[in-house]
Amino acid sequence: MTSASPTLPSFAELGLPERLVSALERRGITTPFPIQTACLPDTLAGRDVLGRGQTGSGKTLAFGLPLLTRIAGRPAAPKRPSALILVPTRELAMQVQDALAPLGRSLNLHAKTVVGGMSMASQIQALRRGVDLLVATPGRLTDLIERGACSLADVQITVLDEADHMCDLGFMPAVSALLDQIPNNGQRMLFSATLDGDVDKLVRRYLHDPVTHSVAPAVSPVETMDHHLFIVDRAQKHDVIAEVAGREGRTIMFVRTKHGVDALAKRLARVGVRAGALHGGKTQSARTRTLAEFREGKVAVLIATDVAARGIHVDDVTLVVHVDLAADHKDYLHRAGRTARAGERGTVATLVAHNEVRNAERMMRRAGVNAQRSRVSVGDDTLIRVTGAQAPSGVPVEVQPEQTRPQRRGYRPEGRGRRPAPRHGERREGRPGGRYSEHRDAERQGERHEGARPHPDGRSGGPRRDDRRPEGRRPRREPAQ
Ligand SMILES: Nc1ncnc2c1ncn2[C@@H]1O[C@H](COP(=O)(O)OP(=O)(O)OP(=O)(O)O)[C@@H](O)[C@H]1O
Ligand SMILES: [Mg+2]
Repeated sequence: MTSASPTLPSFAELGLPERLVSALERRGITTPFPIQTACLPDTLAGRDVLGRGQTGSGKTLAFGLPLLTRIAGRPAAPKRPSALILVPTRELAMQVQDALAPLGRSLNLHAKTVVGGMSMASQIQALRRGVDLLVATPGRLTDLIERGACSLADVQITVLDEADHMCDLGFMPAVSALLDQIPNNGQRMLFSATLDGDVDKLVRRYLHDPVTHSVAPAVSPVETMDHHLFIVDRAQKHDVIAEVAGREGRTIMFVRTKHGVDALAKRLARVGVRAGALHGGKTQSARTRTLAEFREGKVAVLIATDVAARGIHVDDVTLVVHVDLAADHKDYLHRAGRTARAGERGTVATLVAHNEVRNAERMMRRAGVNAQRSRVSVGDDTLIRVTGAQAPSGVPVEVQPEQTRPQRRGYRPEGRGRRPAPRHGERREGRPGGRYSEHRDAERQGERHEGARPHPDGRSGGPRRDDRRPEGRRPRREPAQ
């Protein structure tokens, strides 16, 4: 039996089958979180849902549990999955798979991840054997469909996790093309901590009379999260970062560009901090290994671009550091949300130079966040008290050899996306007719094309002009209020 507070219904009372409830209990999940309590009656009844809940509030199970319940008992035909979850990044796909596949097994359901950077042959084989739940990034799924390895004609339930981010990344045409192949009478759910932008277009076109479940206002800070704005002299910034990285406890540091991530990892290694570096320019095996080492506690510090900002859950991350300012308040909230998850406490620190303070404060206001502002330097009491900063050993640690992916050029997603004009001093990249480089970055995160060929001039590693661009999408300045 599920234990639940007297006022809140248990998972069983909400209508989940006993085998699923037991499987949840085996994973230590006994009481529904509010977003789950709110969504389950409608999602189990087959209604279309727009779900917004703060970072770490349990959205994966809010859509995953009803999905598994509703497709149980009708095994999928070969190549024709019964349910589809679309996500923007490979790491998130694997994480959703890890959360739902064991629960699905309790109902004899088979789940499979299809993402780029991993063996297509094994994905094709699995689809041939029959996959009930497919967790996919849009690019690889499109490729599989084009190869005749998968059809969406039997999909009864579709979920878009981090729906707004998929739109931001330029996946809208690919996502629409996929949704167009799914029977119109199926159930659709869109989830994110922030639902805005082009999401409206998706809702109008693909959802039928959706119910919105939002257990918190549009912008509402996670209560267990403390925010700090640290003003640092430029000349000291590297040393302050090194001290913060030298702390005990799991830390994620967000940096805007791939090159910035690699450079910081090297700098920290020189002063004795071994840190994992994660960005879309690494091979998938390196990305997977880095995240695994961080999860397993083999490295305490993860340095990442925004590729790790959405949806990624690692237990016990106690500090998130914005080494570079987030592109906007939404990215701020998602990055910050890697800590203080599922009711845990966490601290978020933003390091800024004097001239960035106004922009940072404007962003935080828009994020609904009240940050404590302090000037800090190396060895500062506030810095130590808030972050646990301590001087690293100074004894260099070994860095693993760079593993970067070969560069690809000129991907043009389907559809008629507008091509943004180059900004002052910026050159367009890619072959004539190719799309702007931010979409190639999007492609890297979601994998439109398989089988990357090395760049014709043989470049394969090292900082490229592309690596110096913000990963994922173009940074947006916060509008002045
Ligand atoms: N009912 C529950 N009881 C205990 N733990 C739960 C429950 N629901 C979810 N969790 C745990 O909470 C953590 C965060 O959940 P999840 O990743 O689904 O959050 P999210 O809302 O999707 O966050 P984000 O917006 O960052 O994607 C996970 O470790 C998950 O296992
Ligand atoms: Mg999530």
